[in-house]
Amino acid sequence: MKVEPRLYKRVFVWSWALRLFHWTFAFSIAALILTGLYIHNPPITTTWAEFRPSFLMATLRYYHFVAAYFFIAAIILRTYLLFFGNKYERAKDFLPVNRENLRSLWRTLKFYLYLTDEHEWREGHTVLAGVIYTIIFFSALIMIFTGLYLLYPEVSIIKKIGSFFFGTVQMARFIHYLFNWIFIVFVLVHLYIVIWNDFKAPEAIISGAFSGSKFLPAEVVEKEVNKEAPYI
Ligand code: HEM
Repeated sequence: MKVEPRLYKRVFVWSWALRLFHWTFAFSIAALILTGLYIHNPPITTTWAEFRPSFLMATLRYYHFVAAYFFIAAIILRTYLLFFGNKYERAKDFLPVNRENLRSLWRTLKFYLYLTDEHEWREGHTVLAGVIYTIIFFSALIMIFTGLYLLYPEVSIIKKIGSFFFGTVQMARFIHYLFNWIFIVFVLVHLYIVIWNDFKAPEAIISGAFSGSKFLPAEVVEKEVNKEAPYI
């Protein structure tokens, strides 16, 4: 039996609201990508069997729109948490807006580029994750605005905003499709990173997405304890 020669402490970092956001966002993105790719290029249609219509396209478009509303709700919740969530959920904690976070970003980059074996222990998100999540957040806003423009081109306020930012509905559809690939790449890289991270450092980040807690070396926790983190 191999025993880690290190003492770990359990720190509670992710509120129920953040976990609700995470899983709503994850499942809605999966549904949106799958149904979206079908809408873009349907490999099977049902037109040949008019005597037994199954309306596959109509059904999948309907699922796309239902998932879209969950996606929008998740983004509204995350926006609220960026300002009013706990310490680790606020934008200030994970953006490279001060010297310490910039250094932390560099250390994380070195770790992922295999330039060092020194893992960057952080209670909340790493700064690198924070930067990627910010890009995804703005990409999500683009998906929402282009999607709503595609769905309700006749509603005057949506038409005004949509045509101002994206021009024609066809252009909005093109942008919507291109940004779909950002989400596909993000999902694949995200899954790769969490699994890889679980092998490299025993933080339990995968189960943490359910439980809300993380395991950190005792000395790292001691440093933070005087500040705010309620550790168990
Ligand atoms: C990560 C989020 C999303 C992804 C990956 C995604 C993906 C896609 C893709 C690939 C298409 C096909 C585009 C094409 O034909 O070239 C599509 C169409 C569409 N999406 Fe999304 N979408 C997302 C979010 C949304 C949201 C938030 C809405 C808002 C209501 C939305 C509404 C629509 C509409 C109305 C269409 C056109 C359907 C049609 O023309 O029949 N999507 N989506």
